[in-house]
Formats: sequence, C-alpha cells, structure tokens
Amino acid sequence: MELSIMFCLFTSFLLIVLFKIFIKPFVSKTHDLPLPPGSMGWPYIGETFQLYSQDPNVFFASKIKRYGSMFKSHILGCPCVMISSPEAAKFVLNKAQLFKPTFPASKERMLGKQAIFFHQGEYHANLRRLVLRSFMPEAIKNIVPDIESIAEDCLNSCEGRLITTFLEMKTFTFNVALLSIFGKDEILYRERLKQCYYSLEKGYNSMPINLPGTLFHKAMKARKELAKILAQIISSRRQKKQDYKDLLGSFMEEKAGLSDEQIADNVIGVIFAARDTTASVLTWIVKYLGENISVLEAVIEEQECILKSKEENGEEKGLNWEDTKKMVVTSRVIQETLRVASILSFTFREAVEDVEYQGYLIPKGWKVLPLFRNIHHSPKNFKDPEKFDPSRFEVVCGGCKKWNSVWPFCSSSKWIAHHITF
Ligand code: HEM
Repeated sequence: MELSIMFCLFTSFLLIVLFKIFIKPFVSKTHDLPLPPGSMGWPYIGETFQLYSQDPNVFFASKIKRYGSMFKSHILGCPCVMISSPEAAKFVLNKAQLFKPTFPASKERMLGKQAIFFHQGEYHANLRRLVLRSFMPEAIKNIVPDIESIAEDCLNSCEGRLITTFLEMKTFTFNVALLSIFGKDEILYRERLKQCYYSLEKGYNSMPINLPGTLFHKAMKARKELAKILAQIISSRRQKKQDYKDLLGSFMEEKAGLSDEQIADNVIGVIFAARDTTASVLTWIVKYLGENISVLEAVIEEQECILKSKEENGEEKGLNWEDTKKMVVTSRVIQETLRVASILSFTFREAVEDVEYQGYLIPKGWKVLPLFRNIHHSPKNFKDPEKFDPSRFEVVCGGCKKWNSVWPFCSSSKWIAHHITF
C-alpha cells in the first residue's frame, strides 16, 4: 500500500516536472495575467453611451482617477484598453508588430477601406512615401505664395462680417488641402467636394446606424458622391495625359501601382485627415492669442520683423518658404496649441497577439487607445498643464528643451508627416 502511494506521488511529481520542462514554455505566460482594472459596462453596448453622452474629458479623467493610467472598457462594440502614460503610448505606437492600426468598422466604411490609416506593411509604406513626397518642403515650397493668397482671400471675405472662426478656418484649410492634392484644377470641383465633405464629417462621429434620416446614412450617401466626383477627376486627367506634381499626380503615376479605388480612398482620406484637424488648431490659436496678449504681441513683432527685413533687403513682399523658417515664436505657439488643445484625444490600435504590459494582459483582438489629451494634460508630463505657455518649448541650452521629452507624437513614424507639415 505504502509502495503504491509512494509510486503515485513519484509519478505525480514526475508529471509536474515534465509539464514544467516541456509543456509550459508552449503555453503563453500571459494566460496567468489579470486584465487591467476597469469596467466593461453593458453586454455589447459596453460604455459607449457613457462616453458619447458626456464630455469625453470627464469620462476619461474619472476612469484614470479610479483605475490608474491603464484601464479596460468597452466602446463601439469593442473591448479595449485605454492608456494614458507617455511610456505606454510610446510602447503601443512603436510596436507595429504587436499593435496594428485599426478603426471601428463604421469609420473604415466611411473613409474607404483602402485608405492609408487602415493598413500596415508594404502598401502602407508605399502610400506614406507618396503622401510625404507631396508634403515635403520641396513640394510645399512652391505653393507657399498660393497658400498666402488663399489666406488673403479668406481674410478679405471676413471683412465687415460677424464670423464663426472655425467655419472660416475650415474653408481655408479645405481650399489649401484641395490645392495640394489637385493643384490648380481644384477650383473646378471645390463647391461639389465641399458639400459632400460637410455631410461626411457631420456623420463621422455619429452612432453608426445606417437608416434613412440618420447622420450616418447621410454621410454614407455623401461618401458615394465623393467617389463619383473623384472618378470623374481621375478620368479627365487620364484623357489630358499631362504630368501633375500634386498628390493626385503622385497617386496616379504608373509606378505608384494604385488602382482607382485605392487612389480615391486615399485622396478622400488625406483631405479628411488634413481639414478639420488643421482648422481646429488654427481656431484654437486665434483663441489663445486673443487671451494671451503678450504672446500675441510677440507673434506680431516676429511677423513684422520678417516683413521689415524683406523690405530692407529689397526682397519681394510675398511670403516664401525661407520666411516660415524664421518664425520661431510663431512655431512655439503652434506647438503649445497642439498640446493644450489636443484636438485628437486618442487614436486606435489593435493587439495582434496577447501582450503583457506592466503585469497586465492586453488580449489579442482588443483595441488599445493611447489617450493623447490626458498625456498632454497630466502635471506629471508638463508643469502647469492647463496654462498656455509657448515658452515651455524654448530650447534653453545645447539643444535641450525646457520640457520633459514625452511628446508622444515624436515616437510614432506616422507623425513624420505632421512634423513636416508643421
Ligand atoms: C493639427 C493637425 C493634425 C493633427 C492633430 C493630426 C493628427 C493625426 C493623428 C492622431 C493621426 C493618427 C496617428 C496614428 O494613429 O498613428 C494622423 C494620421 C495621419 N494624418 Fe494627420 N493630423 C493633422 C494634420 C494632418 C495634415 C495637414 C495632413 C496632410 C497631409 C495629415 C495627414 C495624415 C495622414 C496621411 C495620416 C496617416 C499616417 C499613416 O498612417 O502613416 N494630417 N494624424
């Protein structure tokens, strides 16, 4: 009897050892890890209504206060992990092999599934190269005078009118986007494109219910109309057989290897990416300058100084690329506005496998949302975060910045385009 007990114990021990040695390495260690703290809300609906029915700042801030900088939730039909520390944001944005870019299916349907935002790998790299090429200083340099004239038209049209700054900025950025995408051809399609974009953006953040009368339905209709206009522009260019130096020209080059659908989705996507984002930042700049008179005076002084030195050197009065390089104070105002306004509160990624981060499991297939706004507004990252203070971006000594180097955009290759644009 004793022998058989001994035998059982021995074989159990042996089995455990064998399991540890041979089997355990093949079972993902992450299976033992807990999920981040947080709440998943109602089945399927999750916490979507809470997020959409209140100020997102309040939603995120209350979660961070309760659960810390990493927490789980469930929005727009997807389980997700939200992160609000710069280190975690860098980790997620830089590990393309672990986290792929992803958007809710409704956004993909609306912008077009071939658009750059929804891809990785070679196709994504090719598109990024084409977009970057059209927004590199070499390409933008030549259109600075045209951009200046669009700005002048915009200002003149505001003369003597009570205006809504954001709407005027939207018109301005839309016209600049069309100029960089379609070159001088843009004027022909401006009004039709504008109408469609108006409906598209109104439905972009609505609940994705595709029933007649809903904002989402109207946006989807506008999206179809946009595709038709794009098809007309592409076909008319093909007939003319000219060389075009704008973004559409790049997309249409034979060596770009893009189908008409891919071209259309990406043109629509880039206009979408450029328009409201830039218009919002410009609007916030106007607000912050209005509220911070000493900063406004410094910007005006810098601009007048550039103009005066052009006059003294007998240069042409119009703005050129070199002038923009001298706008140090103005550039800091833009950077600080990007931080304080944080117009895109977060972005989406999806875990392609189970990932361990700081002792928690981020399960495969879950969405991960780096919360830019909370990072930019945390006193851990920026002193007096609510204060508009462009001087925090001054370079003080030997290339050091006064601010803690946590700007999450710097870490993501996707931001290269934005560093050039701004
Ligand atoms: C202040 C203005 C802007 C802000 C705040 C902004 C913000 C963003 C954000 C958060 C992303 C997603 C990044 C990611 O998930 O990795 C993005 C992607 C992108 N944006 Fe912007 N953007 C701005 C202006 C522009 C402009 C003017 C253009 C015009 C070229 C542009 C083109 C793009 C493109 C092409 C992508 C996709 C990049 C890729 O997938 O590699 N954006 N932007």
